[in-house]
Amino acid sequence: MIIVTGATGELGRSITERLLERVPAAQLGVSVRSPEKADWLSERGVRVRQGDFDDAASLRHAFEGASQVLIVSANTTGEAALRQHRTAIDAARAAGAERIVYTSHQGANPASLFTPMTDHAATEAALQASGVAFTSLRHGFYAASGLMLMGQAMQTGQLIAPKDGPVSWTTHADLAEAAAIALTDAGRLDGLTPPLTGASALDLADLAAIGSQLSGRPITRVFVSDEEYQAGMIARGVPEPQAEMLLGLFAASRQGEFAAVDPSLERLLGRPPMTMRDVVAASLAQ
Ligand SMILES: NC(=O)c1ccc[n+]([C@@H]2O[C@H](COP(=O)([O-])OP(=O)(O)OC[C@H]3O[C@@H](n4cnc5c(N)ncnc54)[C@H](OP(=O)(O)O)[C@@H]3O)[C@@H](O)[C@H]2O)c1
Repeated sequence: MIIVTGATGELGRSITERLLERVPAAQLGVSVRSPEKADWLSERGVRVRQGDFDDAASLRHAFEGASQVLIVSANTTGEAALRQHRTAIDAARAAGAERIVYTSHQGANPASLFTPMTDHAATEAALQASGVAFTSLRHGFYAASGLMLMGQAMQTGQLIAPKDGPVSWTTHADLAEAAAIALTDAGRLDGLTPPLTGASALDLADLAAIGSQLSGRPITRVFVSDEEYQAGMIARGVPEPQAEMLLGLFAASRQGEFAAVDPSLERLLGRPPMTMRDVVAASLAQ
């Protein structure tokens, strides 16, 4: 049985959908905080059990009978994230899983300037120490985050942010398909994977240019200092620690931490990954 965590989130849901195209529903289980949000899965014959990364006993129950567990990284950071991931790894081992698949990041690095990358690096170390075979899917930066950084640029004609660097934006959909392949095609991806990325690295000026071309409205890339940007976020109600963390994203991208472009995702999918142009076009069409 393959167990997927986070199936009520965007990535986990998409992975589960792709898996349902590859394996019978009876061989799939999900571990979710709120089972009532996963009725669509129980209706299709998928085992739905309650599992919370903060409750080891719930995970042991939710992972029962697992041959593989896919852990979608938690949307927390720092000590909390590492504790939650360790709890999930321990529960997968206790359930007798033969392999753990984890959704890591291309920028996983203990010395990163962007905190979530240090969390991914620490989780990968925990996987290596677990004694269980594992695959750490080193995801490209989510294209959805690129759209989020574009903010209201399409309406205002200005993309305002601190100095940044190139990022190899990659879609949830492509990464979900890659995860489903990793879980069902033994031996395709083992251990720390190469960066699973889109085919080009683009900075925010590039995204502004794409937005201009597609919308027919000029978008200017406006640079502000880190301090100014942080003050703006806090004024809009973003909690200070989160604003600080986001500044780390710009600092890390300036260092080129997310600039690697790798052909592995295209090879795995057997087609070119979606581009940021596709993503911006889809968002404009909505
Ligand atoms: N590669 C990148 O560029 C990038 C960018 C942003 C985030 N991420 C990481 O990728 C992950 C998946 O992204 P996403 O877009 O699918 O995020 P998402 O929609 O926010 O989904 C996160 C999932 O984690 C679950 N979760 C959170 N805390 C949990 C806990 N204590 N126990 C069990 N499950 C818990 C959530 O459950 P509920 O549905 O109950 O809330 C949700 O299903 C994020 O959590 C984050 O770690 C990566």
